[in-house]
Amino acid sequence: MIEVENLTKHYGQHVALDGITFSVEHGEVVGFLGPNGAGKSTTMRILTTFLAATSGSVYIGGDCVFEQPNRVRRRIGYMPENNPLPIDLRVRDYLDFRAQLKHLSKDMATKRIDEVVDECGISDVANRYIGQLSRGYRQRVGMADALLANPELIILDEPTSGLDPNQIRSVRSLIRKLSGKHTVLISSHILSEIEMTCDRVIILHEGKLLASGEMKQLISKSNLAVVAEICAPLNDIKNWASEIALENSELIEQKNGYVRCRFSAIKNNDIREQIFTIVNERGWELRELSLQTPSLEDLFVSLTNGEEGNR
Ligand SMILES: Nc1ncnc2c1ncn2[C@@H]1O[C@H](COP(=O)(O)OP(=O)(O)O)[C@@H](O)[C@H]1O
Ligand SMILES: [Mg+2]
Repeated sequence: MIEVENLTKHYGQHVALDGITFSVEHGEVVGFLGPNGAGKSTTMRILTTFLAATSGSVYIGGDCVFEQPNRVRRRIGYMPENNPLPIDLRVRDYLDFRAQLKHLSKDMATKRIDEVVDECGISDVANRYIGQLSRGYRQRVGMADALLANPELIILDEPTSGLDPNQIRSVRSLIRKLSGKHTVLISSHILSEIEMTCDRVIILHEGKLLASGEMKQLISKSNLAVVAEICAPLNDIKNWASEIALENSELIEQKNGYVRCRFSAIKNNDIREQIFTIVNERGWELRELSLQTPSLEDLFVSLTNGEEGNR
């Protein structure tokens, strides 16, 4: 559905995208993850034909974005970042106006507006002015617009930014409902957001693609960590950790003589036995020893640290 090859975008001297390559298959829900300034919105604007690239190629459903922008636009429903909506239109009138722009016939427009209003949970506010709506409702109006022409590909730029936890939940469940029927690309700088909604993730950092793949597989490649709570002098624990090259060990807290630490496993080995043995040998006491399942955050931190280390 999406084929991006060696995509580069310069804003003057500034390199916003530095030769990124990725593809997205039909029906996938893919998270586009990266800190602010990573290049997510830039990529999405290029994919949706609203911004020219410096070099590289982008195909959507086999159509070249640069040569056939009109065909591409018809395939895509796009909700831009901070989607500006006209505050002096009623929700239904706005959607009707958008349906006309998308060349929907009158009958089709009426049918689709009813459907998306229902799907996005905005039937209660359909006759209200957009200016009177909360941010959560406005966001759903933006999503209703993106869905209106029943596009194959839906591109949502930070759909949950600025929403409260309940609103985030409802947007998330809406996105889940889209999976299977549509190909969905969602950007976010919030890891847990992507972890909960997407099957695959593409990680961008400073205009470079750091990783791309199935979420579970990528996470399983990041290092295992073990949390231990040991009663021993902190320095003794530190010395032991450096002896066996547990460089990334981190102190979580110290309480009543107990030191709570997080050890990064070496070469992804589970080091619980090793910790148990050393504790016994040295006559320390142990009251917790647990393996932590790596999260997307661990993966992200390990990838971005590596990046800095290489410079
Ligand atoms: N119109 C622009 N002119 C100059 N620099 C820009 C422009 N838009 C974005 N940038 C810069 O390009 C980089 C990527 O921005 P953006 O794609 O918005 O990142 P993200 O959406 O991941 O936060 C940032 O460093 C940003 O400051
Ligand atoms: Mg952005």
